[in-house]
Amino acid sequence: MRSSALLAMLSSLAAAESDDLTLKRAFAGRFELGVALPTAPLREEENKLAFTQFGALTAENCMKPGPLQPTEGRFAFEAADRLVALALDHGLQVHGHTLVWHQQCPDWFFVQDGQPATPERVRERLRAHIRTVVQRYAGKVKTWDVVNEALSDGKEYLRPTPWLAALGEDYLAEAFHAAHEADPTAELFYNDYNIELPEKREKALRLIRELRRRGAPVHGIGIQGHWQLDHIPFAEIEKSLIAFHAEGLKIMITELDFDVVPRRQSGAATDVREEGQDLYPNGLPPELLERQAQQYARLFALFDQHHDKIHRVTFWGLHDGRTWLNGWPYKRTNHPLFWDRQLQAKPALAAVLAVAGQGL
Ligand code: XIL
Repeated sequence: MRSSALLAMLSSLAAAESDDLTLKRAFAGRFELGVALPTAPLREEENKLAFTQFGALTAENCMKPGPLQPTEGRFAFEAADRLVALALDHGLQVHGHTLVWHQQCPDWFFVQDGQPATPERVRERLRAHIRTVVQRYAGKVKTWDVVNEALSDGKEYLRPTPWLAALGEDYLAEAFHAAHEADPTAELFYNDYNIELPEKREKALRLIRELRRRGAPVHGIGIQGHWQLDHIPFAEIEKSLIAFHAEGLKIMITELDFDVVPRRQSGAATDVREEGQDLYPNGLPPELLERQAQQYARLFALFDQHHDKIHRVTFWGLHDGRTWLNGWPYKRTNHPLFWDRQLQAKPALAAVLAVAGQGL
């Protein structure tokens, strides 16, 4: 073989290999990697990045109650249908997010002729919503966040929401029963933030136990994972993985991102806004990129150590140009993910691939 042909062959082999070096392949056999995508059509190179790096997809917004059923009985499935089809066409799993939440949930669920609706009416609407949505995606969406963020951030056990006000604690078991009836093969999750911290972890365990005592089928738990640089609760995350696993729950990290612009609140209460400065409008300084890489690596080393307990790790967004942290809890230029706005891999990607035993 002529040496130029040999060189060409070698360089195409190298290209193929570096294409092979994806997050999902690096952790194959340990846990799946997922990504949340918005409804707006992505550019071709964004799609390519999402579908080569990740094995699962969550809809960032379009499968929530508000977008899906803006008025009673009028479902708007187009966006969700499109995203589900796109995922399945590319061989990705789809995680359904979310059937019951106090945010992005229209008021009509709770009102009748200008008055608070009766509990019977609210219960029927809850069941009808879940039935219609879960049946539509039966066999396509294999895991669901049935209830999102039902636990209180304060002293009390449950978050005061219109659902709780209308139905009491019953709404939780109702939701899981309805989802199970609609698709008995789907795996049903409870999803929340800060449940890796001691106070809310105890509440989450109580919730799971009470639901199960009532015969509600709860198969798994989602730890959202909206963490902040330099404040990642590694030890508590580990304790939670152990505690939830011991409870017989399948565990997913459902909404991972590391905020690098300081904010006051931990967790992710989407209705609590703050004021602050746009500290890094022109990019993240190298020193911070490095720290972010180290902390992502430490987190993935922990996940790797407990991979027997973790089913999937999903990032809340594909790249820094498409992260909700550019807008919450105040408008700023954020840099929480593995790819920057130009889709260039940040040091965090190489650091995490190295944890999996893969070099770039
Ligand atoms: C966020 C979306 O990313 C935003 O686009 C939307 O404006 C508000 O909701 N916890 C959740 C997610 O469970 O559904 C939230 O998603 C982020 C916090």
